[in-house]
Amino acid sequence: MTLIAPSILSADFACLAEQVGAAAAAGADWIHVDVMDGRFVPNITMGFVVVEALRAITELPLDVHLMIAEPERYVERFVRAGADVVTIHAEATAHVHRALQMVRNAGAKAGLAVNPATPLDWFDDVWGDLDLALLMSVNPGFGGQKFIERSLDRLRRLRERRDAENPQVLIEVDGGVNPNNAGVLARTGADVLVAGSAVFNSSPVAANIEALRDAIAG
Ligand code: DX5
Ligand code: ZN
Repeated sequence: MTLIAPSILSADFACLAEQVGAAAAAGADWIHVDVMDGRFVPNITMGFVVVEALRAITELPLDVHLMIAEPERYVERFVRAGADVVTIHAEATAHVHRALQMVRNAGAKAGLAVNPATPLDWFDDVWGDLDLALLMSVNPGFGGQKFIERSLDRLRRLRERRDAENPQVLIEVDGGVNPNNAGVLARTGADVLVAGSAVFNSSPVAANIEALRDAIAG
């Protein structure tokens, strides 16, 4: 089964609770929260207070994607704020292993993300320390970008390694996911699909999630 994790980056923040409620009612599995610091990526989004606010209004797992430099400085606070999964970027720290351990010690699931040009080798020595492997299929920083086709081949290779090294790790694909590619991504090996602009747009959230579900079911 492939999980759907709507990214609130594309939601209407003036009525965030309503938007998350609509996603939950439509069967979203996780809520994906994109944290950006204006340094690791050229955009600034949300932090602890938004995670806390979300924790108070939904029981869905909060999947917190940290696009911030030196994430080890903040992972514990995100877990305390209510994150269930905290994902750090391989490119954002000299201390990947330490940061992953900090997440797990704080009581959350630990994720490692890689940008589109980052070698998959980054996963080689941490399979045992991971709960989630996040493959970026756009360059992080903004919602609504086009899916980078090469990501499909990377997903195939990542899936092979995951199956051999630690089948417990979930593979998540993030960026440019929509009903046209969700089916092939699910079949190629994604366990979790993040979707921002394909879920929160001018069409009803329920219909958008249903379209993704149908695409996954093939
Ligand atoms: C991009 C973020 C994504 C983004 C996805 O930096 O990590 O989670 O919200 O948005 P879409 O689905 O519109 O590409
Ligand atoms: Zn994300």
